[in-house]
Amino acid sequence: QNIRRLVLGNWKMHGELAANAQLLSAIRSGWNQSSNAAACDVGVCVPFPYLSQAESALHGSDIAWGAQDISRFDKGAYTGEVSGTMLADFGCRYVLVGHSERRSMHAESSDVVADKAKAALAAGLTPVVCIGESLEERESGRFLDVIHAQLAPVLALGSEAVSRMVLAYEPVWAIGTGKTASPEQAQEVHAAIRAALVAVKCPGVRILYGGSVKAANAATLFAQADIDGGLIGGAALVADEFLRIAEAG
Ligand code: G3H
Repeated sequence: QNIRRLVLGNWKMHGELAANAQLLSAIRSGWNQSSNAAACDVGVCVPFPYLSQAESALHGSDIAWGAQDISRFDKGAYTGEVSGTMLADFGCRYVLVGHSERRSMHAESSDVVADKAKAALAAGLTPVVCIGESLEERESGRFLDVIHAQLAPVLALGSEAVSRMVLAYEPVWAIGTGKTASPEQAQEVHAAIRAALVAVKCPGVRILYGGSVKAANAATLFAQADIDGGLIGGAALVADEFLRIAEAG
């Protein structure tokens, strides 16, 4: 099937006003001139304080913006949390949920991740649900079990919900390490995720790959049957590199 590609930048905790302005403007003008905009969606997930800046800089362009986390709750006494309604107020289309850095450093369980995906959908946002195994889990050979366990609470939200999500496979050992999964390693996991999606009647959900994607390896990764685009960390902070990845999308 022909699934529309998506290349999403995750700025993580990087950025400051002046540099962001340059980066956003370079991405906007570069993508505006691209012939690939008809085939690939592009977006950037920025730190919360810069959502307003991203909205102003990207409004009216083909580039969407979004956040890197969301509260499970809609409102209330949750100090430090940001709700889906608030993100929608700033024009966000996407929100990452369950990035491995949040799972490991903020103790987010797969159940919490599913709650966050549900909160995103309730606010009209597209949750980008991140899953992926650690190096130890890869080396033990049980990485597909880990992937299925991470997916289970999300798939349990039901087909209607799942059909409005994006999934991102990010092997933890490939994130920020320069050590990309080989196209075959990535495809093996993507095929397993696709089979799980087919089982819940959501075959067209996009499955992004993330983990040391660069302009030099993007095309080979995106050529795999079940890789529908990328979730880009470090390379999303360099306009030219990010645009070249999006060109490969
Ligand atoms: O969300 C993005 C991923 O964590 C990948 O990061 O491209 O810097 O390896 P990276």
